[in-house]
Amino acid sequence: MRLYILLSFLLLAVFCSSCVDASQVKFGTLCRGNPSNRKRGCDKKYGCGNYGASRGNRKHMGLDIVCADGDTVVAPFDVKLNGKAAPYIKNNAINDGINLSGEGLCFKLFYVKPDSYTGTLKKGQRIGSLLPMQSVYPGITSHVHVQMCDKSDPTKYF
Ligand SMILES: *[C@@H]1O[C@H](CO)[C@@H](O)[C@H](O)[C@H]1NC(C)=O
Ligand SMILES: [Zn+2]
Repeated sequence: MRLYILLSFLLLAVFCSSCVDASQVKFGTLCRGNPSNRKRGCDKKYGCGNYGASRGNRKHMGLDIVCADGDTVVAPFDVKLNGKAAPYIKNNAINDGINLSGEGLCFKLFYVKPDSYTGTLKKGQRIGSLLPMQSVYPGITSHVHVQMCDKSDPTKYF
């Protein structure tokens, strides 16, 4: 009986390693200077980087990953570039970004100047560079904003 149970677990493990389950997807490095995808905590003036953090009467609909101004932003896995995705209606120095898909996920990266808005990239290849966030928000922890296209919580992928 015990052996039977053990074998069942073993079978389950073997099968599930090949399951297509988007919740098992993990983002690789997004920013060269932050290989472990360290998340932005809270700033004195500008709030916190977690999903759902307060932004006045709105909520932060993404997750912020620490990234220095000008740092190289890279593909976290093999991706397709789906065009421009800008965070603001009113333009400023960091109003750029890109819509990407890969691993069954659709997501956007804000505050990034991409080298190209179309095409495909392999994991680790350069997407572009982080825009000068300090010039718009002096003293903030500069970061890439990761937002799922359906506005769901990306935290489980990190
Ligand atoms: C991102 O691109 C995909 C693929 O072209 C598109 O279906 C989706 O609507 C875009 N999402 C957003 C939020 O811009
Ligand atoms: Zn953000």
